[in-house]
Amino acid sequence: MKVRVDDKEIETRAIFLEDPINGIVRMIDQRFLPWRLVFYDSASVEETSYAIRNFIVRGALTIGAAAAFGAYQAVLEASRNSTQFLSEFINRLELLKNTRPTAYNLFHALNSVCSYVSGLVEAGVSIRDVVKSAREFAINYVENEIIEKNKKIGEIGEKVIENEFKVLTHCNAGALAAVDIGTATAPIYYAHRRGKKITVYVSETRPWLQGARLTAWELSQAGIEVYVISDNAVGYLMQTGEIDVVIVGADRICKNGDTINKIGTYKIALAAHDNGIPFYVAAPSSTIDPTASSGREVVVEERSEDEIHFVFGELENGMLARVRITPMDVRAKNPIFDITPARLITGFITEFGIIEPDSIGAIARQS
Ligand code: MRU
Repeated sequence: MKVRVDDKEIETRAIFLEDPINGIVRMIDQRFLPWRLVFYDSASVEETSYAIRNFIVRGALTIGAAAAFGAYQAVLEASRNSTQFLSEFINRLELLKNTRPTAYNLFHALNSVCSYVSGLVEAGVSIRDVVKSAREFAINYVENEIIEKNKKIGEIGEKVIENEFKVLTHCNAGALAAVDIGTATAPIYYAHRRGKKITVYVSETRPWLQGARLTAWELSQAGIEVYVISDNAVGYLMQTGEIDVVIVGADRICKNGDTINKIGTYKIALAAHDNGIPFYVAAPSSTIDPTASSGREVVVEERSEDEIHFVFGELENGMLARVRITPMDVRAKNPIFDITPARLITGFITEFGIIEPDSIGAIARQS
């Protein structure tokens, strides 16, 4: 992704291996966008787990990339005790597994690296060579399983966006959430590059404001016309003919097509259905959970009530500050994902094409 820093354009990614030999993972610290572009370096499984849990990195596929690089850090750390290598490696993966429960890509990435590394160890490969191969595997996972598949989603999904279309997206399923180019935003970037004139409406996405802060930042950096709208404006804008198509990402897709995505997605899908507006979910097949038959089986993450009580932003004097917006003595409830039933989804934009909800289970993969 191209970003502007001090009037200069630089090419970067949401996360990358800054120092492959020593396992230093560099990530854009998303807590400080759009006000500051700050990078966070992780040198250990513990630091990568901290980054995932605390939203330094977020978004299903960037979490998956962090998990793949974190699993490589686990290989490096375990290699210091070669007699207990496999058990040390698997213990460290537990730290990564326990960071966030909903995004399936976290588990897909960990399972992929784990079965690859276990296979090498069982085949008698030396620990030194396991380290080297695990490093290459993690890098290839991010390139091929994430970035290349999202480019395909962009090429395929671009066709659902006609010239002059007004597109609604929710949360951030952009480059920040998917290492580069994004899932829901990939068709938008492709349509824009192909010269289609498009307008994007981005719902704010309370409480963490991924739409207002991150998607609006990303799309405006790319020169795309973007309007931030309140989450509550969606239904009205659909009724008044302001939205032609909805494209969102996904954190986990069940075999029956039920889709878990950022809180508020379900209400948008209901309103789209009521107004006859196509509602697409853009995600690679690594987001489909082959073990979940329906949305009822998925753990929906619930986070601290402070995310509701406080908002974080920039004051007029340029200082960053956190301010309370609720009375001191009230409680808050903060489920951060919801379940959109398959019946409300027009189609899934995947690397294999646009797939109808009742066929999505057929492309689920173990790793
Ligand atoms: O809680 P977050 O910010 O990690 O949630 C992100 C989303 O819900 C995105 O829409 C989803 O991960 C799809 S992007 C690959």
